[in-house]
Amino acid sequence: MKRRTPVYINILIVLGLLLVVFYMFAQSSDFFKTKYFWAAALVSIIVVFIQAAIGDLIENEKFKKLTDEEKKLYLAETKVPYFQYLWNSASKKQTAKEEEDILIDHGFDGIMELDNQLPKWWLGLFYFGVAYCILYIASYSFTDFAHPYVEYENEHKAQIAAIDEYNKSVPPVTIETAVFSEDNVAEGQQIFNTNCTACHMDAGKGGIGPNLTDNFWINQPEKTLFKNIFHVVYNGSPHNPTMQAWGKNGVLTGKDIEKVAAYVYHINQEQAPITPAQGGAAPQGTEAHWEK
Ligand code: HEC
Repeated sequence: MKRRTPVYINILIVLGLLLVVFYMFAQSSDFFKTKYFWAAALVSIIVVFIQAAIGDLIENEKFKKLTDEEKKLYLAETKVPYFQYLWNSASKKQTAKEEEDILIDHGFDGIMELDNQLPKWWLGLFYFGVAYCILYIASYSFTDFAHPYVEYENEHKAQIAAIDEYNKSVPPVTIETAVFSEDNVAEGQQIFNTNCTACHMDAGKGGIGPNLTDNFWINQPEKTLFKNIFHVVYNGSPHNPTMQAWGKNGVLTGKDIEKVAAYVYHINQEQAPITPAQGGAAPQGTEAHWEK
């Protein structure tokens, strides 16, 4: 008769598995605070005790059927501490009689096969794995658990929120604080392509709106070119409402205007003007003499 695993070990194993499952699904250690975890732990412990009680009954029945010799042997065995018993049985060989009972009637080259029972811990792990698979596939199919897309969405939202939070904490860009930066030109070009090319055309060569690459300007409210661009884009043109006040109207933020102004500055100062001969619009306004 085989010795049974003590109840406290079964309880530890079950609690360990519960921890794994809850942690996997909650993705944080907060589950300790939920009543679900403690309810599941309580139910599991009760089930372990019920299983132990049934085991006791079966053991008693089996014990009655043993011979006196076997009874003595079994009782002596139960006196050995459990872990020592495990240690001993790891190196214990089956007796010839025991082997005869489980010998399967086929072999090859003198090698015979024994019908050994699978270890309980192995079977337990196997059934746990199967149950876990079912749980996992079901929650993957019918809930948001472990979905790469959902996880991506959530992280994306969290990042956007973090960026908004950051933007709220930095002071807005105004004409006083705006500065030209080479780093803003590429992003400024994107803003320009989205909002401005309808009138100022590709690369600011001019159409409904004036050519932005030459040195002739209708509006010259500021002394330096960069501030001048920021001013006109932020406030619009006082003479022509077609050029709306992108900043005042709230269409673009100060930060965006700083970027798009960097792009306009770039095409005006760091690239050759697009002349009418090259398809650019004819100069409008008066020649500008910007302060550096
Ligand atoms: C709906 C057409 C339209 C759009 C869109 C538009 N503009 Fe203009 N823009 C104009 C017109 C028209 C003028 C000339 C205003 C005037 O006569 O005072 C102008 C003038 C300007 C000027 C001053 C040029 C000068 O010679 O005084 C700048 C700088 C400018 N726009 C930049 C931009 C930027 C940057 C954008 C995109 C954010 C933009 N514009 C979008 C029509 C437009």
